[in-house]
Amino acid sequence: MQTDTQSGDYTTLGGAVYGAFADVFARKDRTGPLPDSFRIDGKVCLVTGANSGLGKAVAVDLARRGGRVLMACRSGHPQAGKDVSRESGSNLVEMLKVDLADLHSVHELGDTLRQQGRRLDIIVLNAGLIPRSARRTPQGYEMMFAVHFLANRALIDRLLSDGLIQPSTDPKQRPRIVIVGSESHRSAGPIDFQTFGAFTDYGLRDSLKHYAASKLSLCTYAQELSRRLNSEGETRVAVNSLCPGPVRSGIVRDAPVFLRLLTQALAKLFFTPPDKAARPVIYLCCAEAMGERTGVYLHVFSEKPASPLARDETAGKRLWELSESMIDKQATGGSMGIEQG
Ligand SMILES: NC(=O)c1ccc[n+]([C@@H]2O[C@H](COP(=O)([O-])OP(=O)(O)OC[C@H]3O[C@@H](n4cnc5c(N)ncnc54)[C@H](OP(=O)(O)O)[C@@H]3O)[C@@H](O)[C@H]2O)c1
Repeated sequence: MQTDTQSGDYTTLGGAVYGAFADVFARKDRTGPLPDSFRIDGKVCLVTGANSGLGKAVAVDLARRGGRVLMACRSGHPQAGKDVSRESGSNLVEMLKVDLADLHSVHELGDTLRQQGRRLDIIVLNAGLIPRSARRTPQGYEMMFAVHFLANRALIDRLLSDGLIQPSTDPKQRPRIVIVGSESHRSAGPIDFQTFGAFTDYGLRDSLKHYAASKLSLCTYAQELSRRLNSEGETRVAVNSLCPGPVRSGIVRDAPVFLRLLTQALAKLFFTPPDKAARPVIYLCCAEAMGERTGVYLHVFSEKPASPLARDETAGKRLWELSESMIDKQATGGSMGIEQG
C-alpha cells in the first residue's frame, strides 16, 4: 500500500538531521533487493556523477551484472573508471566527460554519445551537490537548479531526439530512466513559476532550502516525463525515481569544516554505505517488475507517491514548457540567466 508521508523538514540543518534519522529508523524494505545473480548482459547503462558515492556504487553494481557502463563524470578521470572496472571485475566500463552545470558541456556529452551511436538501455540521473552558498553556472542559473533539474531535462531531451533512447513496448527493449531525487522535495513550497530559473543569492543557512526546491523541480520533472513518454497508458520508457535515504557519501564536502566533521561522524555511525544505498537504484534499473511500470517513487525500498506538488499535472506542464524555452535558448548560444528582483 502506498502512503504519502514526510520524514522531516529538510530545509534546515536540524530538520535534515532529524529527517535522515527518521529515514534510517522508519525504513521498511517492502520490495527488492535484486539477487546478485541477476544479470543484465548486453545492456548499455549511462550513470551521471558516477565517480563517487552512490553513483560509483551503482556503476560497480551494474558492471558486475554484465552491463556496459558509461560513467558521465565531471571529475575522477580516469581513476574512477579504473576503480569501477577493478571492483566489478568488468572491462566494459568507460568514462565520459561532462559538467552538468554547463549546458554546453551537456550538449558535448550528447554529441559524443551520438557519435558512438550506442542505444542506451538504462540511464541513471544521479549527480547532485549541496554547495555552501549560491553559485552561478556559465549560463547564469543557480547551480543546484542546473545540475539537479535543467541538465537532466536537456540531456534526456537530447538522447530522445538523437534516438539513443528508443521508446518500446517490448519489455526486453524498453529503456529505463532512473532519477535520484530526495525526500527533501516534500519540504519545498510550490514552485514559483514567476521566478522559475532565476538566480537567487543565498548563504549556508538557506542552502538546504534551495536543495529541497531543486529536488522538487527534479521530482516534478520525473512525473511529467513519465506522463509524456507513456501517454497512451502503455509503458514505453520506464521513468521511475527514488530517494536512496541517507548515504555515507561526500555530498557535504563543501560545508564548513565543523559541519562537515559533524555530518561525517554521524554518517559513519548511522548512514548507509553507498553499495547498500545503491540497491534500490539497481532495483529500479534492473528488476523485471519495474520495467513494466512508470511514475513510481521509492523511498529506499518503500513505494509511496511523490509529493502532491511533484504530482501536480499543471505544475508539471508549466515546468516542462518553461524549461523547454531555457533549452531552446541554449541552442542559440545566448546567456540565459534571469536576475531576480
Ligand atoms: N548523501 C545522501 O544522504 C543523499 C540523500 C538523498 C539523496 N541523495 C542524492 O544522491 C545523489 C548522489 O549523491 P551522493 O550522496 O552519492 O554524493 P556525492 O558522493 O557527492 O556524489 C555526487 C556526484 O555528483 C557529481 N556532480 C556534482 N556536480 C556535478 C556537475 N556539475 N557535473 C557532473 N557531475 C556532478 C559529483 O561529481 P564531482 O566529484 O565532480 O563533484 C559526484 O560524482 C545526489 O543526487 C544526491 O542529491 C543523497
